[in-house]
Amino acid sequence: MATPVKVTVTGAAGQIGYALLFRIASGQLLGADVPVKLSLLEIPQAVKAAEGTAMELDDCAFPLLSGIEITDDANVAFSGANVALLVGAMPRKAGMERGDLLGANGGIFGPQGKAINEHAADDIRVLVVGNPANTNALIAQQNAPDVPAERFTAMTRLDHNRALSQLAAKLQVPVTEIKKMTIWGNHSATQYPDLFHAEVGGKVAADQVDGEWLRETFIPTVAKRGAAIIEARGASSAASAANAAIDHVHDWVNGTDWTSAAVVSDGSYGVPEGLISSFPVRSVDGRYEIIQGLEIDAFSRERIDASVGELAEERDAVRELGLI
Ligand code: NAD
Ligand code: LMR
Repeated sequence: MATPVKVTVTGAAGQIGYALLFRIASGQLLGADVPVKLSLLEIPQAVKAAEGTAMELDDCAFPLLSGIEITDDANVAFSGANVALLVGAMPRKAGMERGDLLGANGGIFGPQGKAINEHAADDIRVLVVGNPANTNALIAQQNAPDVPAERFTAMTRLDHNRALSQLAAKLQVPVTEIKKMTIWGNHSATQYPDLFHAEVGGKVAADQVDGEWLRETFIPTVAKRGAAIIEARGASSAASAANAAIDHVHDWVNGTDWTSAAVVSDGSYGVPEGLISSFPVRSVDGRYEIIQGLEIDAFSRERIDASVGELAEERDAVRELGLI
């Protein structure tokens, strides 16, 4: 059997952790022929619950699962890690914006970034799910100066999938007919789901819906879907978030010609260098790269700038807090 890939999941005893771990262990993250070793990082009070989840993982007898480690020590959890899913953080409650979590959650990601810097494998890939995801990813990345910045990403794949699903329902087409969907900016209510580059049946999606629906229904429905789920379930999205995390890492490792991911900006599309912002990306040879050369009209420019402006404010706030 090939050497197992070590996948570290923080917040393993939480709702997303519960929806995620079984899919990783079954081979859906990395492929049906890739053995995995799971490392579950939790706070001390939740280690027992993580042990319970590990018992259930054992009970599945997954052929690809070569071992499970459970710890409350980030240095242990990230030691030799090849993939790190940083999920562990407080979710928002009704009435909160994701940015309101910065104070509570920001402090988690500096120490985890340091532990990744010191202990992870050379090929480490990090996906931050815990909110506010983009800025938490920035904190982790800034605390890991020896790891190439491109290895730190944040999750906007859930927004991307939501956008696919809303558009497919509107046009009564299968999601598979939609290509080139893009989420720009922050995983927040300012995000910009872009239908001007998306295509349905080979034609521009924005030309197939009326402008009012695009502005007044599509964009706000996608951007505020997280709040709508919290309102309906009384808890934030979990299975769909876990599914998006699987999609994000799967496509990162195995390749895709177009998806959305928050990656470190190189200045493309006027997004200040260093911010972790969502872009249209492709993955080639295990690296996400920003798709270049798209024309951005005034409507899109205004929305991208608004979301990126919010990211710059969040960066300044965490700087003030001494987190970066
Ligand atoms: P949850 O409260 O069910 O679980 C969080 C877990 O994290 C808990 O078990 C907690 O003990 C653990 N934890 C807290 N601090 C930790 C630390 N320092 N190290 C390790 N573990 C720690 O929450 P959840 O519903 O699983 O959501 C987790 C995070 O993901 C939240 O911040 C939520 O807002 C976010 N989220 C992001 C997206 C996205 O699209 N980016 C989608 C859904 C949820
Ligand atoms: C989501 O988009 O569902 C998550 O980020 C949870 C939230 O707070 O909206």
